[in-house]
Amino acid sequence: MSSSTSTSATSSGSVPLRVALLGGGTVGAAVARALLQHPDRYAARLGRPVELLGVAVRDTRREREGIPSALLTDDPGTLAERADVVVEVMGGLEPAGELIGGALRRGVQVVTANKQLIAREGVELRALAQQHGGGLHLEAAVMAAVPVMSVVREALAGDEITRIRGIVNGSTNYVLDLVAREGVPFADAVRQAGELGYLEADPTEDLEGLDAAAKIAILARTAWGVPAPLDEVDVTGISGLTDADFAAAAEQGGVLKLVATAERVPGGRVRTTVRPEVLPAADPLAQARGGTNVVELDAALAGPVRLVGAGAGGDETASAVLADIVRAGLAVAGS
Ligand SMILES: NC(=O)c1ccc[n+]([C@@H]2O[C@H](COP(=O)([O-])OP(=O)(O)OC[C@H]3O[C@@H](n4cnc5c(N)ncnc54)[C@H](OP(=O)(O)O)[C@@H]3O)[C@@H](O)[C@H]2O)c1
Repeated sequence: MSSSTSTSATSSGSVPLRVALLGGGTVGAAVARALLQHPDRYAARLGRPVELLGVAVRDTRREREGIPSALLTDDPGTLAERADVVVEVMGGLEPAGELIGGALRRGVQVVTANKQLIAREGVELRALAQQHGGGLHLEAAVMAAVPVMSVVREALAGDEITRIRGIVNGSTNYVLDLVAREGVPFADAVRQAGELGYLEADPTEDLEGLDAAAKIAILARTAWGVPAPLDEVDVTGISGLTDADFAAAAEQGGVLKLVATAERVPGGRVRTTVRPEVLPAADPLAQARGGTNVVELDAALAGPVRLVGAGAGGDETASAVLADIVRAGLAVAGS
């Protein structure tokens, strides 16, 4: 819907904010359940009720716990056209990109958790939002429940971030931690992480460092407002590691971690890397256990600011998506 209709709607506090949820999988189902089970929470925060218009999925016949089947649709485009806020949690580049682009061209507020899409097309999508008076909210795209985007964009807006460094992929950290602390052979740890659902069916994104590369590219771009193309991230994943590498790290008293780093280099550019590094045991990043994510932001005035938390999971990612729905809803009201 257009922003002018939204404005007239908000003149009456009881006109619902209409939310279209594109995706009802791990993250989408958790978002839908929160909106349906806690309507008073969101109504209080927005000053008007939230109406979940529908949940777009591929298979509408499959039952989804806590989501009435009447809300399911396999037509995300039509669903999105009726919404004040479009929430994209489908993943993949298309049709997600087209749906987000369409919503932004209508001046609608968009929330997305799609790091790969944002790392590739975030600059163009952000420009579309500005051009048409919409909004693009992407807290959940980087480190899920860890509110690093808000800290980079808002809390440190008056400071100068000099470096960003973190463990931003929980799946690989789970594998590395299992090898380092429990002595599980590397190949077995990868297999175990797959069996427990920590790795995707196609684990390449995690093991080759591509997921971490997308996140550090988005963070660098957000921190410094300069291009940080995904294909310029210098990436080495963990798939080439051997048990001998872990033994050598332990002998030095260190810990092997997959570290993502972004820093400014002369000429106003940024350097972004993702690679396995042997960290001293006392390094805060070395202490990340299991699937935990940690990021350290060095700022000129604030010094180091560290954030730790769950970088994945349905409810954990939903927490960030729901915060963005509240922000998006308030932006509709203020438009
Ligand atoms: N899972 C996490 O921990 C996590 C953390 C941070 C960010 N994210 C991001 O959040 C997004 C969603 O992740 P997820 O884990 O929830 O994925 P998922 O479990 O695979 O869910 C994807 C959902 O989108 C639906 N879908 C996919 N393509 C569709 C299409 N063409 N038309 C209609 N529906 C379609 C699927 O329908 P069916 O259910 O019928 O297949 C499913 O409901 C991704 O961008 C991911 O990178 C996830």
